[in-house]
Amino acid sequence: MSRIIIAVCFIFSIYPLNVFSGDIAAGEARYAQNCGNCHGPAGMGLASYPKIGGKEVPYLIDRLETYRAGTKIGPNSSLMIMMAQVLSDEEIANLAAYLSSVQK
Ligand code: HEC
Repeated sequence: MSRIIIAVCFIFSIYPLNVFSGDIAAGEARYAQNCGNCHGPAGMGLASYPKIGGKEVPYLIDRLETYRAGTKIGPNSSLMIMMAQVLSDEEIANLAAYLSSVQK
């Protein structure tokens, strides 16, 4: 039991480091390269493309890593899988930092 508690504490102690290490300015620059074509300015969503601005960092990272792994989430995942496969861990962290920082 105490081992589990130690493990949980360990996870929580390193987790914020990963979450907050994203660089907002770098994420914004990466977003401007092509993400905005579909997701609109500041991730506000465009037509049938989902709004992604203002979401939580862990959610965004999880989604991008899921797409990068080639796993489908919704009916149009193949579009996002193509986009996410070229992203590095750092780019994902930066994009998540930027997107979570924009106004909801
Ligand atoms: C060709 C259009 C297109 C481009 C370019 C694109 N996306 Fe997407 N994105 C989509 C579509 C469509 C979905 C919904 C996919 C599905 O049905 O699972 C999506 C979903 C997402 C989601 C999950 C939304 C949610 O709440 O489930 C995130 C996060 C995301 N995109 C981020 C990005 C980022 C970051 C980039 C740039 C690297 C990017 N997208 C580029 C079309 C695009």
